[in-house]
Amino acid sequence: MAPFSLSKFISDQMTVLPSVDELKADLSGKTVIVVGANTGLGLEAARHFASMNPERLILACRTPMTAYAAVDDIKKTAGCQTVEFWPIDLTSFASVSAFATRFEKEGGGKLDILVENAGIASHNYNRTRDGVEATLQTNHLASALLALLLLPSLSKATNARITIVSCDAHYAISRLPEADSPKIIEKLNEKNTGSRGEMSTKYRISKLLNVFFTRALAEHLPAGSSITVDSVNPGLCHSELTRSSSGFFYYFVEFMKLILGRSTEAGSRTLVHAALAGHQESMQGRYLNNCRVGEESDFVLSSEGRTVQERVWKETVELLEEKDERVRGIVEGLLSAVFSDTLALCFSCDFDFL
Ligand SMILES: NC(=O)c1ccc[n+]([C@@H]2O[C@H](COP(=O)([O-])OP(=O)(O)OC[C@H]3O[C@@H](n4cnc5c(N)ncnc54)[C@H](OP(=O)(O)O)[C@@H]3O)[C@@H](O)[C@H]2O)c1
Repeated sequence: MAPFSLSKFISDQMTVLPSVDELKADLSGKTVIVVGANTGLGLEAARHFASMNPERLILACRTPMTAYAAVDDIKKTAGCQTVEFWPIDLTSFASVSAFATRFEKEGGGKLDILVENAGIASHNYNRTRDGVEATLQTNHLASALLALLLLPSLSKATNARITIVSCDAHYAISRLPEADSPKIIEKLNEKNTGSRGEMSTKYRISKLLNVFFTRALAEHLPAGSSITVDSVNPGLCHSELTRSSSGFFYYFVEFMKLILGRSTEAGSRTLVHAALAGHQESMQGRYLNNCRVGEESDFVLSSEGRTVQERVWKETVELLEEKDERVRGIVEGLLSAVFSDTLALCFSCDFDFL
């Protein structure tokens, strides 16, 4: 079956996902970070993790008022007292660095699960204080920086997992014209028409970058690494993601959510599955959909996509090395310079359902 079609989308949306009881794991002794956990899918995923007895559950959020409310809510509903709020704002590389520094000092030495869920779907072209288009920085660059800075702590856990929340919108990008330029990320940062269509495309591309980064990180992890990284599509879900939308697009998405949308809780189970289920052999670098290993877009799997993936990886790492001097040491010390052929072979195999 083609990886994406309208009929597949509808059938995916109607699929009954595994219950939390089926996904449950014992998280005692484990530290979990959920980024963007004050609302939406992140909040519901955090609530599920809270019900699994984590040693520490850190809600990494930018809005203190709703983050503290989320902590209280989770304590009451899941009976978990080990949940805490740590500030992070992905529109600031310095904030991501400060979060990582704090985790080095106060994180307890190891990190077991990192769920990179925070994201925006902005309908206006805005630059962050770092001078980067906000979608590109929030959804890809700052999330990548956080994953890289936390790699030393993740590598100290017996079986660590990084889950990056992507989207089936990545299928909509069948070619990346920005790859015709010498610097893809620089080109993606530019404002073109500033139209709504342009911003929707920027969102889809950011979600494609999530898939590329996941695969590239997986390929650069050395053989024998205890870290597994995957990306996940939660499906169309009720949440605040369209909060900045208006006009026809807003009403269209709201209508689609009304007839086909998953509840926020149901969507959050895909994140929990991605963070807990399966084994490294079946999950490493993979794109998950409907609580199963899915198939990435044809573009991602093409030889052109593969080249773009490696260029995006290189440019992302170079840019992040300028933002935080620890990145170079981490990449050189914990990752391989060349991607793993074994994994590349594994990517080209038939995808197996869990
Ligand atoms: N809902 C869907 O249908 C759907 C479908 C596919 C993929 N996704 C993906 O799912 C993820 C979660 O989205 P959602 O649907 O749950 O949307 P949401 O309800 O809007 O939640 C987004 C979360 O990201 C946080 N966030 C945004 N910008 C941030 C920043 N600069 N720094 C730190 N946190 C920031 C938000 O915090 P604030 O509240 O403080 O802004 C919020 O906690 C996103 O990556 C999205 O792309 C969603």
